[in-house]
Amino acid sequence: MNYVPPSRLAELEESATLKASEKANQMIASGLKVYKLDVGEPDFLTPRRIIDAAYRAMLDGYTHYAPSAGMPQLRSAIAEKYGVRMSNVLISPGSKQALFYALYSILNPGEEVLILNPAWPSYKQIVKLAGGVPVEIDTGSGFLPDSSELRKRIGRKTKALIVNSPNNPTGAVYDEKTVKELSDLARENNLFIISDEIYDRLVYEGDYISFRKHMKYEDGLILVNGFSKAYAMTGWRLGYVIADEKIVKEMAKIQGHTATSPSTFVQIAAVTALRECEEDVRKMVSEFSERRKIIIEMLDRKGIEYSRPRGAFYFFIDMSKYIKGVDPAEYLLEKARVSVTSGSGFGDGYRTYIRISYATSRDTIIEGMNNIFAAIGV
Ligand SMILES: Cc1ncc(COP(=O)(O)O)c(C=O)c1O
Repeated sequence: MNYVPPSRLAELEESATLKASEKANQMIASGLKVYKLDVGEPDFLTPRRIIDAAYRAMLDGYTHYAPSAGMPQLRSAIAEKYGVRMSNVLISPGSKQALFYALYSILNPGEEVLILNPAWPSYKQIVKLAGGVPVEIDTGSGFLPDSSELRKRIGRKTKALIVNSPNNPTGAVYDEKTVKELSDLARENNLFIISDEIYDRLVYEGDYISFRKHMKYEDGLILVNGFSKAYAMTGWRLGYVIADEKIVKEMAKIQGHTATSPSTFVQIAAVTALRECEEDVRKMVSEFSERRKIIIEMLDRKGIEYSRPRGAFYFFIDMSKYIKGVDPAEYLLEKARVSVTSGSGFGDGYRTYIRISYATSRDTIIEGMNNIFAAIGV
C-alpha cells in the first residue's frame, strides 16, 4: 500500500533536539570521543526510596488499571501540595502528554496559541496536533516577554498563551512583574495560560514565582508539572496537570480513551517522591548549582556575552560573533567534538544560538567548554 500521511500531520515536525543528539550518538558508536552537552534530562539516578516504593507497590498488587484521572493517593498528595481539590488534578504519563490533553481540551480547530520564542520545540507541534495554530513571538536576547508586544498579537482567534519558567532553552526565570503582567493580560483578554512549571525546583538565584500566585484556575490557569526533572524520573513517564475541574473532566475522558492512565505502581511510588525525597532533590539542585557556577566562571573569563540563566539546567548563547555562515551546533560537533543543541529548533530568530546543558558531569562540562573555546579561538 502506498502510505500517505493524513493532511493533519502534514506540518508535524520531528523533534529537533532529539535529531541533533542522534548524530552525536552515531559518532560515539563509531568510536569517536564526543562531549555531550546536549542532554535534556538529569544525569542522576532516580532516588532509591522511589525505586523501592515502586517495587513494594508492585508486590502489593498495584499492577492493574488505574482510574482515568489518576490514582487518588497521588491526586490527593498533589492537591495538598498545591492547595486545591483532588478534582482539580489529573495525572498523565509525562507532562508532555499533559500539555497535549490540556490543549486538546480547550482548542477549537484553527484557534491560536501564543508561544514565546525561544521555546521548547514540542509546544508548536502539540498545538498543531491539537488542531490549533501556533503564533510565535520572539522575546529578543533578554528572553523575558514584553506584555505590550504580546498585546499586539492577540486577535479574535487567540485562545491561550503558553509560558515556561524556568525556561528551556534559556534558563530564564520570570520575575514577579512579568508573571503579574502576563496574568493580567490573559484575564483581560479571556485567554487561558498554560504554565509549564516542569523546572520549578531548579532555581539557583532569586525567587521563583509560579503563575498560580497571580492567576486562578477558574480564571483559566492550566498548570503543568511532572516528576521528570526534579526527581530524575524521565523514564518513568509521570506528569500532572492542575486546572478547573470542568477541564480536568474533559482531559480524563481523553486519557480514558487513549493511555487509560499512567502506570499504577509508578503513581504510588510518586507519592513517596513528593513526601519523602526533599533531601534527594536538595542534593541534585546543589550539584546543578555548582556546575552552573563553573560555566559562568568559564564564560566570564573568556568575555563571552550571554544572558545569565537563573534556573533549569541550560545556557542559551548567541555564537554569531564567533561562528558565521553555518549552524553553530553542527560546527561545534565537527570542530570541537562537542554536542550542543542548535538554537534553530527553538525559533527561527535563534539560528545563531546554541543551548548548552549542564545535566552532565563536571569533567565533561569543563573539557567540553574548553574544546568549544579552542574551536572558536577565544
Ligand atoms: C519545557 C519542558 N516541558 C516539558 C518537558 C517534558 O517533560 P516530561 O518528561 O514530563 O514529559 C520537557 C522535557 O524536556 C521540557 O523541557
